[in-house]
Amino acid sequence: MDEPAKLNLPFEFVPIDTERLRLRHYRLDDLDALHSWRSREDVTRYQDYDVQTREESQRSLERATARVTMAVQGDGFVWAIERRDDGQVIGDIILFLDSIEHALGEIGWTLHPDYQGKGYATEAARGVMKLAFETIGMHRIKANLDPRNHASEALCLRLGMRREAHYVEDFWSKGEWTDSYIYAILAREWRANQ
Ligand SMILES: CC(C)(COP(=O)(O)OP(=O)(O)OC[C@H]1O[C@@H](n2cnc3c(N)ncnc32)[C@H](O)[C@@H]1OP(=O)(O)O)[C@@H](O)C(=O)NCCC(=O)NCCS
Repeated sequence: MDEPAKLNLPFEFVPIDTERLRLRHYRLDDLDALHSWRSREDVTRYQDYDVQTREESQRSLERATARVTMAVQGDGFVWAIERRDDGQVIGDIILFLDSIEHALGEIGWTLHPDYQGKGYATEAARGVMKLAFETIGMHRIKANLDPRNHASEALCLRLGMRREAHYVEDFWSKGEWTDSYIYAILAREWRANQ
């Protein structure tokens, strides 16, 4: 059984290279890419934000670029997902520090619809989980999703995550009460899958 982990904090943002992708820090000139999906109803449907105006996407981008250090609870990184062969920014992926004492993280993901169905989110999430478990030293990573978000649930399952909770109407979103699934994976389960 793992002891409660001592996290490698403060942790400064690092890019992550995978087979087809480079996960890198957002730049302010990524606004067109970011806004191309944040302005779409099919992408924001199950997110905790609404379809954004360009100005709102600009503010989101500024917040993402300001995230450079993981040191205290609530800190997190947002990686722009860039395709290595053509430099196209196709989505982003987040990792938040939920608890230092218990070494908990939370992951989240978004791809532009043009780039879904090709395994890019799986590849990006594996890269982030490797960093979270092997370098930052997290013990457990969870994902929180709307049960109707079948693509996100399928991604959790591809990553070896386990559904641990179904909260009923715990979140008011876009004019209705919505349910949440909690999926999670432990560091030792991650290692066993490698
Ligand atoms: C959630 C989301 C990121 C999942 O994207 P996705 O494209 O389905 O996931 P992946 O990129 O891992 O691609 C997996 C698909 O590619 C296929 N695929 C092709 N090549 C693959 C490869 N090398 N590796 C893995 N899968 C591959 C898989 O079979 C799967 O196809 P299927 O959906 O027909 O079963 C995407 O639906 C999304 O951005 N949704 C909107 C935002 C959102 O709701 N985010 C989550 C909030 S909780």
